[in-house]
Amino acid sequence: MEFKRRIIEMAKFVLPVYNVWDGRAFLLAVGDFKSGDFNVMTIGWGSMGRMWSKPYVAVVIRPTRYTYGFMEKYDNFTVSLLPDSFKDILTYCGTYSGRDVDKIKETGLTPIKSNKVSSPGFDEAELIIECKKIYFDDYKPSNFLKASIHSKYPLKDYHRLYYGEIIEVNGIKAYIGK
Ligand SMILES: Cc1cc2nc3c(=O)[nH]c(=O)nc-3n(C[C@H](O)[C@H](O)[C@H](O)COP(=O)(O)O)c2cc1C
Repeated sequence: MEFKRRIIEMAKFVLPVYNVWDGRAFLLAVGDFKSGDFNVMTIGWGSMGRMWSKPYVAVVIRPTRYTYGFMEKYDNFTVSLLPDSFKDILTYCGTYSGRDVDKIKETGLTPIKSNKVSSPGFDEAELIIECKKIYFDDYKPSNFLKASIHSKYPLKDYHRLYYGEIIEVNGIKAYIGK
């Protein structure tokens, strides 16, 4: 597979949305690359689509995550897809907290400057989506319509939902449609 990222216009961007969240997970990065004030974590729940005539990525972050403070502080974030061979690194970034470890040092990942936002992408990524926050909300347990959803929150740390408008997509050829 050719490994060279290039800017992909939204109209040509293709992604198997459900499978990508379920089978692979994204690496979320939020903060300021330049000053080094950023954090990364693995995310497996979220969505993508079109809202208010804008393409968006929606991510959900529990307030217990170190990342949450960064999501509140900064107006942007990125989500990146790493090649399949990075599964262990995704597990690491989804198990350890930036409060306790330096995930970049421990994983050897290479953060890189984004084109349009302060949060970094990753040189190893085959897809990087740069987003600017446009909406947030908190999941309300009183609105859960399926009883089993409550079991996802033993600590009652209900996710905060953030919509990020997609500002730029950089990806390898596999994400370009006809
Ligand atoms: C595959 C996978 C998917 C995950 N998805 C989410 C998610 O969507 N939202 C969330 O709040 N935590 C999610 N987590 C858990 C966080 O990634 C994990 O708690 C991480 O250590 C938080 O790091 P931080 O404390 O540095 O923010 C996921 C973990 C894994 C392994």
